[in-house]
Amino acid sequence: MAVRNKPRIAAPSRQGALTARTADPRALYEAAVQCVEAEIDFVDRRFKSLRGRLASRLREDFCATAATSCEWVKRRPTNTAVAVDIDPEPLAWSRVNHLARLPEDARGRVTLLRRDVRDVGPGGDAMDMILACNFSYWIFHTRDALRGYFESVRRSLVTDGVFFLDFFGGWEASKVQIERRRCRGFTYVWEHESYNPLTGDMTCHIHFEFPDKTKLRKAFTYQWRLWTLAEVRELLTEAGFSRVTVYWEGDDPKGGGNGIFKPTTTGESCPSWIAWISAEK
Ligand SMILES: C[S@@+](CC[C@H](N)C(=O)[O-])C[C@H]1O[C@@H](n2cnc3c(N)ncnc32)[C@H](O)[C@@H]1O
Repeated sequence: MAVRNKPRIAAPSRQGALTARTADPRALYEAAVQCVEAEIDFVDRRFKSLRGRLASRLREDFCATAATSCEWVKRRPTNTAVAVDIDPEPLAWSRVNHLARLPEDARGRVTLLRRDVRDVGPGGDAMDMILACNFSYWIFHTRDALRGYFESVRRSLVTDGVFFLDFFGGWEASKVQIERRRCRGFTYVWEHESYNPLTGDMTCHIHFEFPDKTKLRKAFTYQWRLWTLAEVRELLTEAGFSRVTVYWEGDDPKGGGNGIFKPTTTGESCPSWIAWISAEK
């Protein structure tokens, strides 16, 4: 999975050297893949510049451990977050590992909902912002299913609400490949196991490897459709969003991304890239 620039790499464990026998895959995922500080910096600034006011009500779809929601409520005492996931396990993990560590006032401003993002129902509406991060909406494999999700997001936003989602592409996106990256105390392994060009269906895994040679194979598996950015832009428009903007990442001196995303109407054809998208109601 592509990773945004991380200002720091969080220590994955407080218990000393990591090994597959004791490591917590959810903590490793957060340390290797997520940078919720940069995520919130981006959406908070963009919302203000698009709408001329600050957002306060955020919904985090496909939230898993709700790390982004917890970051959001820490930013301002008026911020509230609704974190939605269909799986009770990461939500339970979040209660113990994130919510319990928030100051009491902030904790009361996060709601965890075990629901399907296509039909969040009571408590999921009237949002200023809805986020779908780390490409999680690629679990929808057909145009109808993805458009249906986008329509339900749009209905759940206030009149000037904004939907933010991310995207990865480039010619390496469809390549069967394994990438390794060293993190503090472990190695993060991102595998594209298969890609079917007829359907766009792809299977990806996250594995973790440890200094003592133990491994957590297939800690997380994703059955995704590899969408194109053009298709996603079209489907957002078909779902009724009035303006869709793509934000392209700038280059760092070594040819990687610099973590700074700017609105654009043209991208660059390169092996791999990440973009943000905003869709205004
Ligand atoms: C890759 S994790 C996302 C983690 C985190 N949001 C991030 O940015 O890295 C995807 C999550 O989506 C959840 N999920 C999958 N289908 C869903 C659905 N239809 N409704 C709600 N959650 C869903 C899974 O349970 C899983 O926790």
